[in-house]
Amino acid sequence: MSWSIPPTACWAPRPEPGRGGSPPLTTFPLWIWSTIGLGHQENEPVRLLLADLVDRRTRPQGERARPPPHPPWSWTSPAEIPEACATLADVRIDVFTIFPGLVGGFAGQALLGRAQERGLLDLRVHDLRSETTDVHRTVDDSPFGGGAGMVLMAEPVYTVVEQVRPPRPLFLLGPAGRRLDQALARELAAGPGFSLLCGRYEGVDARVADGLCDDELSIGDYVLGGGEVAALVVLESVGRLVPGVMGNAESGDDESFGEGLLEHPHYTRPAEFRDMSVPAVLRSGDHARIARWRRAQALARTVERRPDLIEARGGLSDDDRTLLAELDELDG
Ligand SMILES: C[S@@+](CC[C@H](N)C(=O)[O-])C[C@H]1O[C@@H](n2cnc3c(N)ncnc32)[C@H](O)[C@@H]1O
Repeated sequence: MSWSIPPTACWAPRPEPGRGGSPPLTTFPLWIWSTIGLGHQENEPVRLLLADLVDRRTRPQGERARPPPHPPWSWTSPAEIPEACATLADVRIDVFTIFPGLVGGFAGQALLGRAQERGLLDLRVHDLRSETTDVHRTVDDSPFGGGAGMVLMAEPVYTVVEQVRPPRPLFLLGPAGRRLDQALARELAAGPGFSLLCGRYEGVDARVADGLCDDELSIGDYVLGGGEVAALVVLESVGRLVPGVMGNAESGDDESFGEGLLEHPHYTRPAEFRDMSVPAVLRSGDHARIARWRRAQALARTVERRPDLIEARGGLSDDDRTLLAELDELDG
């Protein structure tokens, strides 16, 4: 029997809660168990499907599919399934927008697309116009008190969000929100999920922030035309940190902001390019020395470009100063 299962069999978009269809991936194995009877050893196709789910979620990116465990199947009771599937926990992210194609198109590609295919990310994009009933599918109106521009109305937003019941917290994207940073991205990537609401026009009726959303999130001190690009920034910065998305080699721990520092510079072949050479230490093969050089470079760059980050770490330690003093010698 072929053990490979087409991705669509496992990851086809799921209907919204209350509308039938299969349950979310996190509860899928238990659901199979209770409804189909995975405990019966003869239920080979279902056991293979489950093995495929586990393999997709646990194998490092780029590695070939592992063969399924040979019968007798090692899971013998439902109690063992949650443990075996502990790594199956999805991060679900819902996005509400009037441009679902824009968000879905970007998020269906590259890293985020692969993360969804592998079942690591459960991304659902909702059209804010979906519950409108007028012929123009209106979601905006002119502001009370007058002034330029339109405002995204409360009612269509409430209707869609209440129907979907998305994962919380629900963040309204906007320049007045809490600023996204790497620490928040890590926090969100470690949780079970959250949701993003993209504003448009002059903004969103304030009753959406007051009565529907849990918090507001900004991606920086500038004004975008709408929340979609901000949502994509949040999606990518969080999505890449979801366990398993980047693979084992790139954990994200030693990147910029990981330890409150900017990252060291990178080089690749050729060693000489237009009279610019790769630092000799990187070709020395001395791994301890390379690690010290990288750390010293990270410190030096942060001192020069982002002294606020050094201040936030409580200034330079004695070890930091020693390392910085070594930089010339390490460079040479
Ligand atoms: C043209 S902006 C509205 C700006 C609003 N009139 C103001 O001055 O704060 C339209 C939408 O873009 C999104 N947006 C704009 N700048 C943003 C930022 N820096 N971070 C996150 N979302 C932003 C928000 O969803 C906002 O409702």
